[in-house]
Amino acid sequence: MAFLKRSLLPLLGIFLAYFYYSANDKFRPEMLRGKRVIVTGASKGIGEEIAYHLAKMGAHVVVTARSKGALQKVVTRCLELGAASAHHVAGTMEDMAFAEQLVAQAGAVLGGLDMLVLNHITIASLELFRGDVQLVRRTMDVNFLSYVALSVAALPMLKQSNGSIVVVSSMAGKISSPLIAAYSASKFALDGFFSSIRTEFSLTKVNVSITLCILGLINTDTAVKAVAGKLNIRGSPKEECALEIIKGGALRQEELYYGNPVWTTLLMLNPGRKLLELLSMRNYNLDKLINN
Ligand SMILES: NC(=O)c1ccc[n+]([C@@H]2O[C@H](COP(=O)([O-])OP(=O)(O)OC[C@H]3O[C@@H](n4cnc5c(N)ncnc54)[C@H](OP(=O)(O)O)[C@@H]3O)[C@@H](O)[C@H]2O)c1
Ligand SMILES: *[C@@H]1O[C@H](CO)[C@@H](O)[C@H](O)[C@H]1NC(C)=O
Ligand SMILES: *[C@@H]1O[C@H](CO)[C@@H](O)[C@H](O)[C@H]1NC(C)=O
Repeated sequence: MAFLKRSLLPLLGIFLAYFYYSANDKFRPEMLRGKRVIVTGASKGIGEEIAYHLAKMGAHVVVTARSKGALQKVVTRCLELGAASAHHVAGTMEDMAFAEQLVAQAGAVLGGLDMLVLNHITIASLELFRGDVQLVRRTMDVNFLSYVALSVAALPMLKQSNGSIVVVSSMAGKISSPLIAAYSASKFALDGFFSSIRTEFSLTKVNVSITLCILGLINTDTAVKAVAGKLNIRGSPKEECALEIIKGGALRQEELYYGNPVWTTLLMLNPGRKLLELLSMRNYNLDKLINN
């Protein structure tokens, strides 16, 4: 009982207060006006829609992907929609040096950075895993390691602006799914890494928010083609999905769920994990670690 009183009840209080206050935060499009944002994987799909929403809200955007031609069109459209400025940098996220250069170039063009939206992925088809280790390596490089490299490169600017990192993930990063083993591994890795450094940021008073976005099936051309004849679910609209991602980032939410049935979301929230994460903090000699 003493344990309950000392630990569990205050924790429960914090938990409830957190949900109460985060639910009461209201998003306003003006929150993005004049903000400096990088969007990766923005030549098509959800990333492209994120860029258009940001443009309408009057943000400065730098978009990136491999296809230069497609990026140029996205930039033109962003300017038509009202972006404060729009630029593109083309390159592949298989190359960590490119990831670093992109952040440096964007930082120079924008004069700092308020939000980093990590959204790109390498192509993934629904197939049984047949031992292709190279596929796993490329998937981990593009979908995970480049996210780490981009975040590390952007962190000094994000610290200055009290900025945000938005990580686009998937239900396949919370629950296992057949036919996408490599993709799923890369999305689980994002959760492990970014959820860990979120805790470190809070311990070391780094005011950079991290929003992990857990998406269900979305109706992008890539996804619709990939699941055709293999999965019996309809994708949610990519435009609305993109807006929810921006809202979650602007409100500095830790996690955002979109495109899943309510009961799926409730089960994925996994209170057991959250509780253990909080309770396990007692086992660290945090004072020593933080002051070093
Ligand atoms: N659509 C869904 O059903 C769904 C569900 C759950 C989660 N998600 C997540 O949502 C995000 C966006 O998905 P989406 O469906 O919008 O994907 P998409 O339409 O296929 O777009 C992927 C983007 O990544 C870029 N890209 C691909 N390979 C790259 C590389 N090697 N280096 C740099 N950029 C590269 C592509 O442009 P280039 O080809 O020009 O490089 C494109 O801009 C992903 O993180 C995905 O995991 C999507
Ligand atoms: C960042 O937040 C700190 C408080 O945590 C505040 O003092 C500072 O002015 C903020 N900086 C910016 C650029 O908003
Ligand atoms: C962190 O930054 C945000 C955005 O600028 C600000 O609203 C918030 O008050 C800051 N939090 C702390 C603890 O300084």
